[in-house]
Amino acid sequence: MKSRSALLMLAALATTAATPAFADAPSLRKQGSATQLIVGGKPMLIIGGELSNSAASSAAYMAPHWKKLRAMHLNTVLAPVAWELIEPREGRFDWSSVDAMVRDARAADLKLVILWFGAWKNSMSTYVPSWVKRDQARFPRAQGPNGQGVDILSAFAPETLKADQRAYAALMTHLKAIDGTQNTVVMMQVENEIGMLPVARDYGPLAEAAYRQPVPADLVQYLTQHKASLVPEMQAMWVERGAKTQGSWEDLFGEGDAAAEVFTAWYYARFADQLTMAGKAAYPMPMYVNVALNRPGRAPGEYPSGGPLPHLIDVWKAGAPAIDFLAPDIYFPNYVDLVGRYKRPDNPLFIPEANNADNAAVPANAFYAYGEHDAIGFGPFSIDSVDDAPGDLAKAYDVIDQLAPEILAAQGSNRMAGFKPRVLYDETVVYEPQVRDIGGYRFTVAYADIQRPVAKPDTASYGGLIIQTGAQEFLVAGQGITVTFKPIGDGPALVGIDSAFEGRFDAAGRWVPGRLLNGDQTHQGRHISLPAGDWQIQRIKLYRYR
Ligand code: DGJ
Repeated sequence: MKSRSALLMLAALATTAATPAFADAPSLRKQGSATQLIVGGKPMLIIGGELSNSAASSAAYMAPHWKKLRAMHLNTVLAPVAWELIEPREGRFDWSSVDAMVRDARAADLKLVILWFGAWKNSMSTYVPSWVKRDQARFPRAQGPNGQGVDILSAFAPETLKADQRAYAALMTHLKAIDGTQNTVVMMQVENEIGMLPVARDYGPLAEAAYRQPVPADLVQYLTQHKASLVPEMQAMWVERGAKTQGSWEDLFGEGDAAAEVFTAWYYARFADQLTMAGKAAYPMPMYVNVALNRPGRAPGEYPSGGPLPHLIDVWKAGAPAIDFLAPDIYFPNYVDLVGRYKRPDNPLFIPEANNADNAAVPANAFYAYGEHDAIGFGPFSIDSVDDAPGDLAKAYDVIDQLAPEILAAQGSNRMAGFKPRVLYDETVVYEPQVRDIGGYRFTVAYADIQRPVAKPDTASYGGLIIQTGAQEFLVAGQGITVTFKPIGDGPALVGIDSAFEGRFDAAGRWVPGRLLNGDQTHQGRHISLPAGDWQIQRIKLYRYR
């Protein structure tokens, strides 16, 4: 029996709907080489931001933020739901925090990606309810080699999986009831940044027993079937050691912590997979796991180990087929290289935490993700901390918001490319103009004054994208980029600018031209320039001559 207040809340949610009712749950669909999020039957680009961890636990705290986030041109907020808040007593659910969040996001015309802070949040198990925290016999913690417990629930305990599944499935059932036709919630993140610390694996009795077993046949079968396309680290760890198909973790993957981490990854993946299946059985929608990336040069145990890290992608793909994709949280400067690891034919790109929202490189990183990698979405972290003075991010998101229909239409084709300078882990900006062939033209994008191609400190914040919209017609958007062109293939060998306009798309999606750009603004017809400091769109027509 639902309580009276729960029924009233359901009725209120049904009647305060700001969006039309849709019968279908959100899903993923292929378009060419891209994977798109489909909401209400239509593709959707997530222009997102993730709340700081404690924000969504209070409707009062969040009240002033929703509208400000929408005004920043976000269409989606990534927001946690804490296990301890929804199931304070075992089997007794309190949906008030979830209901308020869905109601308030919906009223502000925002979608939600819900982050399930269940058994693990940033490795640790601090979001589990008190009745889980305190019952170490039923919900054992992982242990170090000396038997000392850590504040991380063991992934090997059947009761932990059962309890987490029951709570997560209850959440999905509730979301279906309050939101199944409105689709305010468009995607789910399962747990948060799973990973073992401060050692590479659990040494508790259940884990020890599992470690003594041979490597599971399912994992071996996956590795065998995908042998040619395994990530380089797995090639080195397994193929170069003889691609053995039977034996212990150390027989197959090498001695010590390398094998221990593969073991950890497999069992975390299996847990997350079974959790995901329980949730999807209640209300199927896209579900992903996020990744705390490891610092180069650190050993397993020194970083959250066994998560869906670049070197363990194959293990997670094998162990968690119900999870739709693995999503990197990127706080390191070598963004271009890292997104390249997670955009794969079997893994669409979604970046739930794309650095802190006040980081200067975030807007350019967004353009790169959408333009170059057909990203489903992008969301810098702690978005509620910048919505009073959002600066560049709001300007960049305004442009992305205007371009969203064009971006979605171009996804999975070769009509679109994204640009931003490559930055190394040590923050060196690599000054390399980038070249892409689009629609019969070879575009070269440079990031500084093209006459003096030297990276400046803020060059990392330059970037943009190009979309072909017709024969010889293109949208160029971004800041701090200079674009030149050459023809490809037969025909006249020279290229000129027929016209270049700055402008905006209005709310109805109509192009409203601003200045006609010529003269000094195009270097007398030699290039298209989007100066630093102003995120903007230009609509250009090229032509060829002899
Ligand atoms: C990554 C986590 O996923 C977030 O929840 C948050 O803790 C940030 N780190 C803090 O930088």
